[in-house]
Amino acid sequence: MYRIVCVNCGAEYAPEEILYRCTRCDHLLCVEYDLDSIAIDRAAWMRRPLSVWRYRELLPVSGEPVSLQEGGTPLYHLKRIGEELGLPELYAKHEGMNPTGSFKDRGMTVGVSMAMQLGMKSVACASTGNTSASLAAYAAKGGIPAVVILPAGKVALGKVAQALMHGAKVIAIRDNFDKALEMVYSLCLSHGLYLLNSVNPYRLEGQKTIGLETIDQLGGVPDRMVLPVGNAGNISAVHKGLRELRHLGFIEDLPMMTGIQAAGSRPVVDAVEQNFPEVVPCADPETIATAIRIGAPVNAEKALAAIRQTGGTAASVTDEEILAMQRDLARKEGIGVEPASAASVAGVKKLAEAGVIDRSERIVCVVTGHLLKDPETVVKQCEPPIEIDATQESLLSVLYS
Ligand SMILES: Cc1ncc(COP(=O)(O)O)c(C=O)c1O
Ligand SMILES: [Zn+2]
Repeated sequence: MYRIVCVNCGAEYAPEEILYRCTRCDHLLCVEYDLDSIAIDRAAWMRRPLSVWRYRELLPVSGEPVSLQEGGTPLYHLKRIGEELGLPELYAKHEGMNPTGSFKDRGMTVGVSMAMQLGMKSVACASTGNTSASLAAYAAKGGIPAVVILPAGKVALGKVAQALMHGAKVIAIRDNFDKALEMVYSLCLSHGLYLLNSVNPYRLEGQKTIGLETIDQLGGVPDRMVLPVGNAGNISAVHKGLRELRHLGFIEDLPMMTGIQAAGSRPVVDAVEQNFPEVVPCADPETIATAIRIGAPVNAEKALAAIRQTGGTAASVTDEEILAMQRDLARKEGIGVEPASAASVAGVKKLAEAGVIDRSERIVCVVTGHLLKDPETVVKQCEPPIEIDATQESLLSVLYS
């Protein structure tokens, strides 16, 4: 029903092979379905609950999935921020509303289910935080041990707390995410753990459902989808899902895929702006948005194709712009997101002001993780609570004098 295919040379592999890259040319792999032979009744899809598993015909899992009820996240109309930017059709898909508070759960329900289906005995990942939190939870649900490798001191508190509490073996290295990924990759190849970073093609299958849900919620295709980009898996996954929908004849056009990075960590933006054939890694990425503090995005090849094939673009935003938009989302829309997630909307603001985005566009920003993931960055930006004596007089005096 599906094969694993190299995105570069087209080499095909059987689904049961444990592979993360093409053995012939070392490029990325993807899951390819025989879409012409899959029978999908779109009306039946629409009767199922909005969730990753609404789209199970387009997913590789055959049995009962390891699920915590992921997906089905809200799509909010950003009325106030949209009005301020002159964008009446601006939306945010709040992926922070997934079980562990980020979009990674969509990938992990499929990834951990596949680990079980393939008979793997343990799972592992490198992470800027959310992947580890999600893997730890889904491994717990599946009853399989998990190892996660993090960059020491560079992971938001809430995410480390989750990975620890869900019982993963948490290892922090004195280096950055890119090195952590290199290390866990070798570990998985040498010791047979199942790698669940986004280089794993099955994980992206779950994440593609963000795009499928968006179409169902909006009742059509947005002109543009905007995502924060770190390892560049998510933007690639959403693009893949929408291409499959188009192949099935459910939609005609694809949205312009638009990637946003932080100013201190922008290899994909450089490649798009300067029309490089491939991404040149940035050796020392730095940003307050630690989730996207990644200098060598593993999925860059797929992401550049997504952006270029859809006439999209990429842009970077400063940490100040990210934090200002995090506050705006919280205070003007009631939507609490972590800094990396605010980058997508901050990027839209920048592109609209630069005249790159047309004001009539229908735009969906994916806001990828919840506010509570990174409470320290929140507290640093806000005035502390006003502490008073427990008297009515003190209360009235701080409120009205
Ligand atoms: C909150 C958040 N946003 C965005 C990203 C970037 O996603 P990707 O690595 O798929 O580009 C991540 C990745 O860790 C994340 O945790
Ligand atoms: Zn190949």
